Amino acid sequence: MSVAQQPAADALVLFGATGDLSRRKLFPALYRMEEHGHLKVPVIGVARSDWSDEGFRQHAHDSILGAIPEAKASVIESLLARLDLIQGDYGDPATWTSLRDTLDSCHSRTAVFYMAIPPTAFPTVAQSLASVGLNDRGRIVVEKPFGRDLASAVELNTLLHSVFPEERIFRIDHYLGKESVEDLLVFRFSNTLLEPVWNRNYVRSVQITMSETIGVEGRGSFYDSVGTVRDVLQNHLLQVLALVAMEPPVGPESSFLQDEKAKVFAAMRPLDPSAMVRGQYVGYRDEPGVAPDSQVETFVAARLEIDSWRWAGVPWYVRCGKGLETAATEVVVEFREPPSLLFDEAGGPEPQRNLVRFRLGKQDGVTFTLQAKTPGQHLDSQNVDVAVDFAAALGERREAYERLLDDALDGLPRRFAREDVVEQTWRVVQPALDAPGPVHPYFRGSWGPAEAERILCGDAWFTPAV
Ligand code: BG6
Repeated sequence: MSVAQQPAADALVLFGATGDLSRRKLFPALYRMEEHGHLKVPVIGVARSDWSDEGFRQHAHDSILGAIPEAKASVIESLLARLDLIQGDYGDPATWTSLRDTLDSCHSRTAVFYMAIPPTAFPTVAQSLASVGLNDRGRIVVEKPFGRDLASAVELNTLLHSVFPEERIFRIDHYLGKESVEDLLVFRFSNTLLEPVWNRNYVRSVQITMSETIGVEGRGSFYDSVGTVRDVLQNHLLQVLALVAMEPPVGPESSFLQDEKAKVFAAMRPLDPSAMVRGQYVGYRDEPGVAPDSQVETFVAARLEIDSWRWAGVPWYVRCGKGLETAATEVVVEFREPPSLLFDEAGGPEPQRNLVRFRLGKQDGVTFTLQAKTPGQHLDSQNVDVAVDFAAALGERREAYERLLDDALDGLPRRFAREDVVEQTWRVVQPALDAPGPVHPYFRGSWGPAEAERILCGDAWFTPAV
């Protein structure tokens, strides 16, 4: 057990066990854990009183098969055998004594309390756990969005700290559970080749794209209350950015990683609203749950700057959105051109600058775009891609939620977000919330509104390599 590791949990309590997140992500992840022999604890769902035990098990069963059609009946059976349901309303004290009695009956001393519930319910649940002394018997896992802005994130941190100490608050950002995202850290600091050039002297710009082809998919009312800045920019994209920008950590322990991320954001200027473009796909306002005159963005592009010795002057372009042409998550690091063009005897187009492209979505891997000699008499160069597909090279990896649930149960905080880092990310995006500016329409299947080019200072967006 490392210094930062906490005791392994002996029970998992799922608030929101009958909700959307449990159906789409948590039950499939629990199935995989059961399949891999990692799930060893009872799983206690807490749900409104109109759910029956039978209905709950059926819900878990259907959720697993919905996500994993080839799921094995024997594994599902073993998982269902672990399930228990506490029925009752969060506002009813009897729900909490019943939860405590259930944990007592399975001799639990350290539970994981997973809040897969709307943020408005976090305070009631946290305080109710404390009312029956369960805050001293485990750790809490809090889903995103963690707050709505800087002030509410600070307020939520204060509230949670009144009940749980920081080391027992695990803030989820499922991007931190993705192998491809974690690879940014490992790839950068396990290869000496990159570090000497990973700075303002050699890097011209960095682009981070998270594009989804899907729309809001039945989550219209949730999405219309958040928008893209809160849904993915403040969390997933900035976490990815920090891994690309940070200094080498002193060691792999959680606190060292969090310290370096915090420094990146401390050096980052708050987002300048004039360097941000918001878009909304045509048809969004017709989605169920969306206001007919909604001004909420489904796309955002922004230019960020980090005032550090390593990065001063390098633009960090980020864009993310729904209803776009391609589903991809990518980081493209663009290097400066050589000081003079030596090999251009054929007089063709200017050679492209070197790129390191981290592909973080499906078919994740890395692609180096380099120059090599064009065959023939002339000394001239052309682009070649040196690429590796990690699944093919390294084998299939586990899904983010499975890894994060495993970590939460094992008591490993490394892949979760720390208080100060979350607050810093809200500080960075706060101007975009205060002065969001107009929302530009774009057609589904495009790359967002044409206005997104405006923030690039004459550069162009790289098309994801999928
Ligand atoms: C979630 C957002 O956090 O991430 C969704 O709420 C988004 O809107 C999803 O679709 C994307 O996750 P992934 O793993 O599919 O890239």
